Amino acid sequence: MSLLRSLILRGKQLPNNVWCAPLAGCSDLPFREMTARYQPGLMFCEMVKMEPLLRGDPTTHRMLDRTAAMGPIGAQLCGSKPELAGPAAKIIEDLGFDLVDLNCGCPVDKVTKDGSGSGLLKHPEKIAEIVSQMVQAVSIPVTVKIRIGWDHGTLVGPEVVELVEAAGASAITVHGRTRSQGYQGKACRTTIASCKARSRTIPVIANGDIFTAEDAVAMLQETGCDGLLLARGTMGSPWIIEEVKQLLAGGIPLPKKTPEEVRASLLDHLARIERYQAERKALLDTRRVCCYYLRELKGVKMLREAINRSPELALVYNLINQFSWEGVQVGVRSAPEEVSCESCVD
Ligand SMILES: Cc1cc2nc3c(=O)[nH]c(=O)nc-3n(C[C@H](O)[C@H](O)[C@H](O)COP(=O)(O)O)c2cc1C
Repeated sequence: MSLLRSLILRGKQLPNNVWCAPLAGCSDLPFREMTARYQPGLMFCEMVKMEPLLRGDPTTHRMLDRTAAMGPIGAQLCGSKPELAGPAAKIIEDLGFDLVDLNCGCPVDKVTKDGSGSGLLKHPEKIAEIVSQMVQAVSIPVTVKIRIGWDHGTLVGPEVVELVEAAGASAITVHGRTRSQGYQGKACRTTIASCKARSRTIPVIANGDIFTAEDAVAMLQETGCDGLLLARGTMGSPWIIEEVKQLLAGGIPLPKKTPEEVRASLLDHLARIERYQAERKALLDTRRVCCYYLRELKGVKMLREAINRSPELALVYNLINQFSWEGVQVGVRSAPEEVSCESCVD
């Protein structure tokens, strides 16, 4: 039986159950343009905070830029005040988004200190209150993204599933780590399975450590979940979406991208960054994105280092174009050495 299937949330059909995560500082417009080429069932913008969204902050609104090719697409709200949640969700609906999600997983101190992000896991009933406000304010699906708990002593994930389902959520995504873990250890499939077991009808989407199509199949088989959310696995390898869809559908594994194909994709992504961002930001984004695309390749260390030192964009292109790609090999895709969502903005 195929593990690839469509999902219907609040009457809206999503073409498949392979979703792409909100990634603060990363899932910007150029990233999502690259992602759209591989047609995930749903993709997300970077999370946005409720307060700046409501006061019309231009930086926050720009994070919600999208093109017609990006569909279905969701926006994710971060905040802990129930009275702001409805109006914020309404803005997302009015902007034409297909779905609105509540962030209950962000681990960074500057987010959790006011009780937002994974701070909400300390008060599951508040999550339900916020979701209820959102559901009443909009007619698009409202979803929730959680970690399995604040720490291993308080694994509230299964309880939250039950609460948000009762509050009217249309689906929930579960990242199989606690807030205390950050990105340490492995995402716990057993606890994700316990979350799935507590849902009566809503789809439960599994998240954490999916870096290959084989990881994706194992995640669905071991948790019994209804879909997958890919996160770091998409950074520098957007084609993981089609690799995963192919294997879930029972097809033979797709061949790895050649170094030449990776290079072409990287150049495509850089061109999109250059079109979208101002010069200084474009250079910084370019360095970050090059790191992601090159991490799967062997024999590119010097190129990566040179790009990181590069003071201007034109030089980055020169380095990539003049590099001798013949000796480069494709290695194993794994978690980026460093991850951070510190870049989420106010
Ligand atoms: C750079 C970065 C930014 C992230 N930003 C968000 C975010 O805005 N909202 C969110 O719910 N999760 C965010 N996450 C968490 C991911 O969506 C995902 O839950 C987590 O990385 C686990 O999945 P993975 O092991 O497949 O990467 C972020 C993760 C990273 C690495």
